[in-house]
Amino acid sequence: MSRLESAIRRLQAQKICLDWAATQISAQPGPVLELGLGNGRTYDHLRDRLAGREIFVFERQVAAHPDCVPDDRHLFLGDIRNIISDAADVIGTPAVLAHCDIGNGDKTETATLAAFVGPSLAPLLAHGALVVSGQAMVIPGCSEVPLPEGVPADRYFIYRMA
Ligand SMILES: C[S@@+](CC[C@H](N)C(=O)[O-])C[C@H]1O[C@@H](n2cnc3c(N)ncnc32)[C@H](O)[C@@H]1O
Repeated sequence: MSRLESAIRRLQAQKICLDWAATQISAQPGPVLELGLGNGRTYDHLRDRLAGREIFVFERQVAAHPDCVPDDRHLFLGDIRNIISDAADVIGTPAVLAHCDIGNGDKTETATLAAFVGPSLAPLLAHGALVVSGQAMVIPGCSEVPLPEGVPADRYFIYRMA
């Protein structure tokens, strides 16, 4: 498979998982977390699918399209490892959905970051919250959920908080 095909499949899987999760949590009030703003593509997608929902974004360095940058109140700017532990107090309400897309292309570095983020994310989540992730994670209290149709195993990951 070429890198182009791989990238397309990853984006397709990402969209299917986010659409599925947005439907699942549609009746459940609470904020959404976006870990890794990047270009702002998935942030914009979540904004569209979950109109009116508060979305809090974690990003080391904003480089997104200007239309896809959250206001200061909804942006945790800096290395996520330094800021996630204080985020619950700022957000104030447990999140019902988190999307983690924190890969940097280096498998080992990304896995190490995901291993840190999983346990740190747990206190920010509501009961029944979904975590949609580009990386496999261990999140205390969460169990893995079967992927929606059309998403190959290990392409994306979904977890649900008990
Ligand atoms: C693959 S991109 C996200 C793409 C985004 N979901 C989109 O649709 O455009 C990953 C993002 O995670 C951010 N990131 C990686 N490691 C981080 C860290 N330790 N703290 C904060 N942000 C980080 C990077 O700066 C990058 O913008």
